[in-house]
Amino acid sequence: MRNFNFKNPTKIIFGKDQIAKIATEIPKDARVLMLYGGGSIKRNGLYEQVIEALKEHTYFEFGGIPANPEYDILMDALAIVKKEKIDFMLAVGGGSVIDGVKFISAAAVYEGDDPWNILRKYVRTQQGLPFGTVLTLPATGSEMNSGAVITRAETKEKLAMGGPGLFPVFSVLDPQVIHSIPKRQLANGVVDAFTHVMEQYMTYPVGAYLQDRIAEGVMQTLVEIAPRIIADPKDYTAAANFMWSCTMALNGLIQKGVPTDWATHMIGHELTALYGIDHARTLAIIAPSLLRYKLENKKEKLAQYGERIWGITDGSLEERAQAAIDKTVDFFHSLDIKTRLSEYTEDYQQTATFIEDRFTKRSWVTLGERKDITPSDVKEIVEMSY
Ligand code: NZQ
Ligand code: ZN
Repeated sequence: MRNFNFKNPTKIIFGKDQIAKIATEIPKDARVLMLYGGGSIKRNGLYEQVIEALKEHTYFEFGGIPANPEYDILMDALAIVKKEKIDFMLAVGGGSVIDGVKFISAAAVYEGDDPWNILRKYVRTQQGLPFGTVLTLPATGSEMNSGAVITRAETKEKLAMGGPGLFPVFSVLDPQVIHSIPKRQLANGVVDAFTHVMEQYMTYPVGAYLQDRIAEGVMQTLVEIAPRIIADPKDYTAAANFMWSCTMALNGLIQKGVPTDWATHMIGHELTALYGIDHARTLAIIAPSLLRYKLENKKEKLAQYGERIWGITDGSLEERAQAAIDKTVDFFHSLDIKTRLSEYTEDYQQTATFIEDRFTKRSWVTLGERKDITPSDVKEIVEMSY
């Protein structure tokens, strides 16, 4: 196991009917900006619950943060933060709203002249404007991590940012929010969380037995509860386990002391930027090809995963590793998630070359846990996913 530091300051408030607690978590004298997405919270009753909880506070609202949070819209929210002298933000939404609030949190304290540089130059934020979250969609883990991904339509870019000052102060996780989530988004949540675990697990063994078992526990739980929540989002036990699995998949714990990959995410973000494909679906397109392409590097962990998650024990190491990838693809298909780029767009022929050029221009030449995935490898991986 490798050396590591671990600090996660986010307070989690988990369970039924916990939203009212934000009243006591947000400082009494704070000037609060509540931010939300396209309006789902107005249809499912969450908006009323949050407003009721904020009634003793001075608060303002900003709605309309879209899925894949758009830079220009976030800049409008930043203007309100400055004009109204906001000193605490409350994100009510899924990964997009929470990520958007993280960008505003960083931009509010940024001293450079162009906030886009936070993304373009990957500026790490040491202390952002404080914020809490009410999670409405389990998937990204953004509610308990310090990363964000922001989209800019103008340049068709989707870039990551983060820093130790961007953890939420608190996050309310009420599994009952799942009731109103469409099946498509539930399936996305399962696949996103599952892939987060794979990015931090499907590398090579370093004797981190506990991290492996925790990661496998998250994947096993997702496999077990996925059909249940999709059949019945009101199954509270399944919903609670789904929500906590998604948080645990990307709150930093399972990546400690182990190598991590993240190339699937970096390539996947390009597919969202180019075609607007849902984040999780881009991962389902790229992950199988990437695992096949890097089989030699990843075969020990693939075989271990195959045995422990899918019960695969027959065949050589390579055969077991291949069978484990096939099982993963079957799992995505069982959630009605397609795994080929050509199933999402007809305009795919130039995608691999475009991404290869883009990564070359950005000097992203050392992806993957062994830093050996070059832009030309990326091109081949994307072509394999057509
Ligand atoms: O906007 P509204 O109207 O609220 O509708 C949303 C949105 O259309 C809807 N929704 C959310 N909660 C709902 C609901 N509908 C009914 N009932 C509810 N309770 O779901 C749609 C998708 O929401 P979004 O927030 O976009 O989904 P998700 O949580 O999957 O977030 C995706 C974004 O997070 C980024 C992705 O790249 C993408 O931009 N990620 C963030 C990460 C992080 N910060 O750590 C890691 C991830 O890998 C990911 O990259
Ligand atoms: Zn993800």
